[in-house]
Amino acid sequence: MRNGMSQDLLSLAFTLNGETVSVRVEPHRTLLWLLREHFDLIGAKEGCGVGECGGCTVLLDGQAVNACLVLAGKVDGADVLTVEGLGGPEALHPLQRWFVEKHAVQCGFCTPGMLLSAKALLDRNPQPSREEIRVAIAGNLCRCTGYDAIVDAVYAASREAIRP
Ligand code: FES
Ligand code: FES
Repeated sequence: MRNGMSQDLLSLAFTLNGETVSVRVEPHRTLLWLLREHFDLIGAKEGCGVGECGGCTVLLDGQAVNACLVLAGKVDGADVLTVEGLGGPEALHPLQRWFVEKHAVQCGFCTPGMLLSAKALLDRNPQPSREEIRVAIAGNLCRCTGYDAIVDAVYAASREAIRP
């Protein structure tokens, strides 16, 4: 019986935060489960589990996705970026640094997802308007900051990026 179960496992190989990884996983698992439970990358949060809160946002081939809604099998051959791959204490990404500068982090639960939605925006539109920033993070709920500080942080990061 155990063998029968193992034959149902999916074999996946993909790029995770710049490194090639491989894993065998049950087909019903989500990308969020894979990240948190298998790879111990706990930046992506499980808030609602049904695609409503954005706490689980990661980049899949450069697109911001709700990892709670993506079946693990979808990442085979793909490129996945989580907040751990964006930057860390020793080398903050400009978005992370501006989130700190602008006091855009309170409890921080929403922050990893906000950062990745913002990165996806800046990658396709390096100089967004404040309205475009609001649209880009519309799927990321924050119960703490009221959004103004977050929009300020993304705006500041985008303008810094174009400085010589
Ligand atoms: S946990 Fe995925 S959108 Fe809420
Ligand atoms: S900082 Fe707490 S939910 Fe956004």
